[in-house]
Amino acid sequence: METSETLSPVVLDPFGRSQHQENARLRELGPVALVELPGGVPAWAVTHHQVLQELLADPRVGKDPRHWTQYAEGRLPVGWPLINFVNVPGMITTDGADHRRLRSLVGQALTPRRVEAMRPRIQELTDRLLDPVQGEFELREAFAYPLPMRVIGELLGLPAADQDTLHALSSVLISSSAEPGETLAAQRDLLALLGALAERKRVRPGDDLTSALLAAREAGDALSGEEVVGTMLTMLVAGHETTLNLITNAVRALLADPAQLTRVRAGELDWSAVVEETLRYDSPVGQFPLRYAIEDIVVGGVLIRRGEALLASYAAAGRDGAQYADADTFDAARPPGRHLSLGHGPHFCIGAGLARLEAEIALRALFARFPDLRAADRGTPPEPVASFISNSVRELWVVAH
Ligand code: HEM
Repeated sequence: METSETLSPVVLDPFGRSQHQENARLRELGPVALVELPGGVPAWAVTHHQVLQELLADPRVGKDPRHWTQYAEGRLPVGWPLINFVNVPGMITTDGADHRRLRSLVGQALTPRRVEAMRPRIQELTDRLLDPVQGEFELREAFAYPLPMRVIGELLGLPAADQDTLHALSSVLISSSAEPGETLAAQRDLLALLGALAERKRVRPGDDLTSALLAAREAGDALSGEEVVGTMLTMLVAGHETTLNLITNAVRALLADPAQLTRVRAGELDWSAVVEETLRYDSPVGQFPLRYAIEDIVVGGVLIRRGEALLASYAAAGRDGAQYADADTFDAARPPGRHLSLGHGPHFCIGAGLARLEAEIALRALFARFPDLRAADRGTPPEPVASFISNSVRELWVVAH
């Protein structure tokens, strides 16, 4: 049986230059492939849909970093770029009862009702962002980024003036190619900014998620100050970087297939089907770090030893040919399947409803306003975001008439 000692790892490109090609190679190696993360850190990439789905719900796999031998023994490189996914206190770094407690307290704050109540405001923000747009413009900067940022910003009660600073810092956290130390500095600055906001909300609560997190109580229990700020950080990053990619990737896929766009605009296909197919075809999260084997696990002829790390390879699973016919083709008319791009199991995305709502409103409004929207010819194909965690392009130039 193969182990991390008998296999040689595939070095994951920290700049995420051709994630889909890289993922195709990893899938060929089997359901799990040994990879090398920045700093020479080994992990198992889980790239086949079925096995990923099983491992995401497997109690032998956890997210508490104390299960990770390399972390517990202090053997991570100083300033490691993925450290935020390992050590920030909150939902993404806890399991079992600790995790259920956090989720339930956060769930009290982010209720379906609160999300649905955002609908008119999301529409208003969308329309306002589209009003000044004309001619050739860069879609991410003008639209796909500010919309989810304002939505999560308003939800958390962040002052609009801080939002661009927070985005710049959060982009560092999800970059797998950040310079040593850059991530730690960004994490420290973000925690300081969010900590100051939490303090202001403690003194003067408002009708926002931060105040709701501070107020959430269950059986005499509440979130600690550190947990509130860690959760705000996760919500901020998860709440806008991903939806930004989803909107960008959907527009890109539709502009590359005008016939399909025509069918959507004619009402033959729903916007929700476009959103789900984009999630599958071009998962906004490429690889999600990290999980850890709590026991030895045998999968696909490989022994993952207790204490080793796993990556959830969402973009790879979305294009698994064993799960989807013509997996490399964007087809919003395909029979609805259950993609994994919003996670699965206990850590399923807590913002899924909000993400879907935002993306549908954004896409419908964009194409209603600009029925002839097309990709601008910039001479070269768009560059990818420099990270294997984030899966999208850095810029998407389009022409509106
Ligand atoms: C297109 C948009 C989004 C995508 C693709 C996405 C994807 C995901 C995925 C794949 C996970 C599971 C991570 C893992 O453990 O492997 C996750 C978890 C999470 N997401 Fe999202 N997400 C999106 C939007 C949002 C939004 C809008 C919010 C907040 C308002 C949010 C908050 C979270 C949080 C807090 C978790 C951690 C849940 C836990 O560990 O229990 N996400 N998301």
